[in-house]
Amino acid sequence: MTHPTLPGHPHIAYQGDTLCIENVRVDDLAATYGTPLFVYSQAAMQDALAAYQRGFAGRKLHICYAMKANSSLAILQFFAEQGCGFDIVSGGELERVLAAGGDAGKVIFSGVGKTRAEMLQALQAGILCFNVESEAELEELSAVATAVGHIAPVSIRINPNVDPKTHPYISTGLKGNKFGIAHERTLAVYQRAASLPGLQVVGIDFHIGSQITETTPYLDATDRLLDLIEEIEAAGIPIHHIDFGGGLGINYNGDTPPAADTLWAQLLAKIDARGFGNRQFVIEPGRSLVGNAGLCVTQVLYLKPGETKNFCIVDAAMNDLPRPTMYQAFHAIAPLQVRAEPAQTYDVVGPICESGDWIGRDRSLAVQAGDRLAVLSTGAYCMSMASNYNTRGRAAEVLVNGAQADLIRSRETAADTFRGETLRARTAA
Ligand code: LLP
Repeated sequence: MTHPTLPGHPHIAYQGDTLCIENVRVDDLAATYGTPLFVYSQAAMQDALAAYQRGFAGRKLHICYAMKANSSLAILQFFAEQGCGFDIVSGGELERVLAAGGDAGKVIFSGVGKTRAEMLQALQAGILCFNVESEAELEELSAVATAVGHIAPVSIRINPNVDPKTHPYISTGLKGNKFGIAHERTLAVYQRAASLPGLQVVGIDFHIGSQITETTPYLDATDRLLDLIEEIEAAGIPIHHIDFGGGLGINYNGDTPPAADTLWAQLLAKIDARGFGNRQFVIEPGRSLVGNAGLCVTQVLYLKPGETKNFCIVDAAMNDLPRPTMYQAFHAIAPLQVRAEPAQTYDVVGPICESGDWIGRDRSLAVQAGDRLAVLSTGAYCMSMASNYNTRGRAAEVLVNGAQADLIRSRETAADTFRGETLRARTAA
């Protein structure tokens, strides 16, 4: 009997023939809480965070967890307890940070489309920094801040025009992307920012993309960033912090991204050589902190043999796991209980009425109806991107720590999904 290879993390592994997450049998959790069910390992998140902390040992660093990757309250609570701040992209995310006990003073606010209301909300909460993405936003933010007698701390996101060599939808640092300010315009925009009454320049930032598995794009972007800092500071505008964004990839399917500490050893060597080593640094990792800490348990409903394909129909779907259909992403799929029978090749699909509702294609599985499967590397950009399509309630979530398993989100009911909707009053015929 061969055990499937798991790409994830040592904290998610077979003990005998049974898949365990830390010291808990995943099957037991599924029996208790039902499926689909997301399960996360706290130890895996801790290890991922520790790799960054090691990489920056002895430096001034703010880790702002990019909470769009997984914004469940207990996950945020964990990162807040570890001393992290948060990279947010909406007023809703700021409310989540506060609800989880996070500190607004450690929040940076990214995104190309901040509304006036969101700017006001963030100013009143006292966030650390607005990462501004356009000249128009700079003017708007200054006006909003001035109107309420605040000064907005700002960093300007520069677009270094480097190719992160990732999926086009998650590549953000190229000229044709909507993000950031062209590096040729940077000095002029900083001069404008420094002259506006409602702003105080505090930093500079970039974020070049996501699921990056090579070091070179970071090295190139860092060189450009440091050139710009020299230029801006020579013009008399001090830059207090340097924010390198997020983007480090994880192993989904044999991918070999550098470890966070290895990546940062290389980047910091360059930064030191150029004389910037004692600055205040900020990073915004998302996926690399949570992606391989999570799995999604799903139950096989039916096996459907076909002429050209065999289908394994499961109870999780594209509303729970949108990455395969959105980005043709690969997630490993492994049984919770290893079976002795020979494997067959299946397309693993969900119940949603779309051919795009697939979770894995051409997967070799020894499986029967009623078995449970784990969809791996699903800690990032799965629950946070889940929808209610087909009026499917979103899944429950469990956070495991050693032998302890806590339900951190209960399963949504159908009634939850239409809360807030109203019928119109009947008019007499
Ligand atoms: N900072 C900014 C400004 C970002 O836009 C992002 C991600 C991050 C940090 C965190 O990047 P990470 O370390 O997680 O790569 N839904 C897509 C990923 C979208 C990423 C968007 N921005 C996916 O499932 O692959």
